[in-house]
Amino acid sequence: MKSVSSNVELKKMVGQRAADLVKDGMRIGIGTGSTVVFFIEELARRVQNGLRIQGAPTSLGTRLLCAQHGIPLLDSMTINHLDLAIDGADEIDPSLNAIKGGGGAHTVEKIIASMADEFVLIADQTKLVSSLCRKFPLPVEVIPASLSFAEKEIRRLGGMPALRNAVRKDGPVITENGNFILDITFSDPPGDLEVLNAQLKRIPGLLETGLFAGIAKKALIGYQDTVETLLPRES
Ligand code: A5P
Repeated sequence: MKSVSSNVELKKMVGQRAADLVKDGMRIGIGTGSTVVFFIEELARRVQNGLRIQGAPTSLGTRLLCAQHGIPLLDSMTINHLDLAIDGADEIDPSLNAIKGGGGAHTVEKIIASMADEFVLIADQTKLVSSLCRKFPLPVEVIPASLSFAEKEIRRLGGMPALRNAVRKDGPVITENGNFILDITFSDPPGDLEVLNAQLKRIPGLLETGLFAGIAKKALIGYQDTVETLLPRES
C-alpha cells in the first residue's frame, strides 16, 4: 500500500508525461482532479515556450487553473469536436473502462471525452482494479426533482444509493449543473456494466453516470519508477 505522498509523486510523473501527447495546434479536453493539475502545470510551461493549443475545461476548478496559467480556453457550449482529451479516474479496469465522478464533474467530463478523437486516462497504479464497482461507489448525477424516485429505481436495480454530502457546507453536494450526486454501492457487484449503465440512464431525472465504458483507448499509469502506457484488453 502506497502512502499518500508517494501517490502524489506518481500523479505528478504521469500528469507531466501526458503533456507529450499534446501536439501543436491541437484542441484538447482538460479533465478534473489532482492528477490533471500536474498535466495543466506542464502544459502551461509548454504554452509559455510556444506550444499553441486550445483547451476545453471540464469543471470550474480546471477552468480557473488554466486561466491562471495562461492556457487559451474554449467554451464547451460552442464545440463538438476535440483532437484529444486527458482526464483522471477513480478506478480503471483492464479494458480501460473507468469510474469517474469522485470530484462530481463526471457529466461534463463524459461530454468532453466523447467528442475527442482520443480519450486518454491518467492515473497512479492504485487506480487499477480487476473489476469496477467493488470498492469505489458509482457516482450518478440526479436533478433535485428526481432524487427520491431515482433512489427507489436504483434500489430496484440492486444498488444502494447514498446522497453525497458536502464537507465545508451544510447539506448535499451541489454540482456545477445545480444537481445532486448519488454514490451507488452494490452488495452483489454488477455483471454487465454497459447494461447497468443503460438501465440507470433510463431513470427520468438521472442526468449522467460516472461509468466511462469503452471510451478510453489508452491509459498512462504511474508506477514507482516509470510511466506505462496501457491499451484496452479485449474482453
Ligand atoms: C472528477 O469528478 C473525477 O472524475 C476525477 O477525474 C477523478 O476523481 C480523478 O481524480 P484524481 O486524479 O484526483 O485522483
